This record gives sequence, structure tokens and C-alpha cells, in this order.
Amino acid sequence: MNRELPPTAGHSFAWSDFLLSSPVSLEAKLASFLQVPYVQIESSGTAALTIALEALKRLSSRQTVIVPAYTCPLVALAVKKAGLRLGVCDVSKDGVDFDFSRLESMSGIDTLCIIPTHIGGLSADVQRTRAIAESIGAFVVEDAAQALGSSLGNKRLGTTGDIGIFSLARGKGLTIGEGGFVVAGSEEICQTLRAVGDDLRKPPSVLRETALCVQLLKNYLFCDPGGIARIANEMHCVIELECDRESLSAETAPPEITLAAVSNYRKLVGAGALDRLPDALAANASRARPRVARLAELPGVRVLMERDGEHGSWPFLFLIMPGEEKAMSALEQLSTTKLGVTQLFAVALPDYRYLDYPVPATCTPNAFDVAARAVTITNSHMLTDGDFSRICEILAEIVAG
Ligand SMILES: Cc1ncc(COP(=O)(O)O)c(C=O)c1O
Repeated sequence: MNRELPPTAGHSFAWSDFLLSSPVSLEAKLASFLQVPYVQIESSGTAALTIALEALKRLSSRQTVIVPAYTCPLVALAVKKAGLRLGVCDVSKDGVDFDFSRLESMSGIDTLCIIPTHIGGLSADVQRTRAIAESIGAFVVEDAAQALGSSLGNKRLGTTGDIGIFSLARGKGLTIGEGGFVVAGSEEICQTLRAVGDDLRKPPSVLRETALCVQLLKNYLFCDPGGIARIANEMHCVIELECDRESLSAETAPPEITLAAVSNYRKLVGAGALDRLPDALAANASRARPRVARLAELPGVRVLMERDGEHGSWPFLFLIMPGEEKAMSALEQLSTTKLGVTQLFAVALPDYRYLDYPVPATCTPNAFDVAARAVTITNSHMLTDGDFSRICEILAEIVAG
């Protein structure tokens, strides 16, 4: 059977979502879900970040945006699009959050904002980032692109910085095909975000919107457990994986960032699907927790876990293998199984060829190391316990070898 699993858990649609049964707007539902006063929908997570940075530019004359050296290259492209300077901070050894001593030493009077990033829906230390940002008068923009629905204590990830950005792209959990949104608490920042959005956003393109609506429907029909054409799901998953692989490339630049309005239709489809998100998140967590515990028993393998009081959204499980060669064998051997084992980012930020900014290689050794050793396993409902055991057996052989 030509069965290929998607690299992330995703979130299912239902027929009723497409019939626009939701009486409440996506913005209002997201604001209530996240317990924030303001949500602004944009055409992608990258567009949301670009709008956020443009808003901060109106509030401060500072120029530098500090990002972790292990993050999505689209983040760097948003900084470039906003005409700001990129500061690349190394991550901690064997981790994906900032190396905080490095962050402290590179933050200064020109730092406009720092972007802590919740990789795999697991929390970065926003409190610690905040303390550094506050000491130098900079903003904190939380990158929660992969973390819609995660929480720490009684707060959702993405809601404790000055601004939070989220992605609604395929594979990120709740999706509207392509999209994202920005949240903020302070009245001044909310007003500035609204003004920047109104100034920079183009009206929705009919052609693009039609294509995205067709894609949403195709997603539902061919990839969803509730879709009417489940039998064809293998074919669709292959298409989806090809798209994801392309976005991981270190060589090929993604298309130009567009700042365009999202049609009401797509927003309402998302609003319908959002009603089922809490149940889907609970199911993701109950699949992921025993599996990460099992992976953590593999000798030398480090697995990203929830902190105390944290509830992750668990799009995938994130492992750091005990060496680059073992990571390469895992990716090679497991890619042939088509069980949704892949890499999150192809390389560390300074290694994307098309991001032409100078970062001396010696400045981000931990990010290079984690990029070379990271392996992700899908947390899709389609990955059965049997599939997962097969992955564990292959990994166990590799780490023992
Ligand atoms: C950490 C992170 N930030 C930002 C983005 C950009 O989001 P989008 O793909 O919706 O533009 C992504 C997307 O993969 C991401 O993983």
C-alpha cells in the first residue's frame, strides 16, 4: 500500500465547517480561546510577523531584531522585508531556546525586539527573555507559529510577550490553508497593528482565494479521517509532503512575502474547525506523552518534553540524536518507511544560502549542532502504535550501532 504519513498532526475539518455554520468570527473565537483582547488575521504567520515588526518600527527607532539561530528561515525573511537588522543568537547546548548568556551580551540599545520561539508547541522561556528585553527597553515578540493551543500554567503560549504571532498554515494544527495572526495586549500596540495592517495589506486576490478554498476542501476530502474519500488519502499525503520538503530547502528561497487580506469564507471555515481544537489537542497530548517517554529511554537521545505546568500542542515529537551520523542514518532509514519522520529545519539559520547576512560560523555552534542532530516524528493520528514501535526499533538499532 502506498501509505505516507504527514510530518505533523494537523487538525481535522468537518462538513459543517464548509457550510459556514459558525455564527461567531474567527477573530472573536481565537481571542476567547487565547484569552487576549485583540486578534488580527493575516495571510500567513510570516505576514503576521512582518506586520508586527512594522508596528514596532512605528513605536521605536531601534533597528535590530534578535532571533534564535535555530528557527524557520521565514522569520529572517520577515525581518528583511521590514527593513530591519537581524541579530542571530545561538541556542543552548542540546536545546532550541536561546543561549541566555549570549542573548544578554548581544542585546543592547539598538535592540528593537527579541523573538523567543516555541518549537514544536513546547515553551521557550519567555519570562527570562522578557527580563533581558525589559532591562534594555526592547519588546518581546513571541513566535508561536507552531504552538496554537499550547499553554504554560494558566496562560496560552504566544500571549505573554508584547506581541504574539501564530501560523494557520497546513500542518500547524488549526489551518485555513494559508494564514496567520497576531495578538497583543496593550491598547497602543493593538491600535498600531491595526493601522499597519490597514496600510500595508492588499485586498484578497480572487484567484488566490479560490485556489486556497479548493485546497482546503481537497485537504478535507483526501486527508481527513472524516473525509468522504479516505481511500485516496495516500495520494494526497504525498502531495502534502512534497510541499513541506520544498519549504525546508536550504538552497531555494521561498516566494516573496505577500501581505494580503484573508477572505471571510476561509476565516469562517477556520472558525468552525476551531470548536473542535480543544478535543484534538487533548488527543494529541495523550498520543504524544507516552511516546516521548519511550523515546527518552533510548540511550543518548534527548527528547523535547513539557515543562512542569505545561500542556503542549504536540504537532510532532522532537529528538536530538547522539551524533550527526546517527541522525543521518535515522533520517535515511526512516524516510523509506514513510511514517512521517523528517527534519524540522534543514539547517541552522546562518546556513540558508539565500539569507545573505553575515553571521560568523563560530557564533552559533550549538544551532549548527542541533540542526545536524534533530529528527522529528509526526504526531498524526494516522501513526499507529505499531508504526511507532517500528520507528522505536529502528532508532534503538541506530543508537546501539
Ligand atoms: C517557528 C516558525 N515561525 C514562523 C513561521 C512562518 O509561518 P507561516 O508558514 O504561516 O508563514 C513558521 C512556519 O513554518 C515557523 O515554523
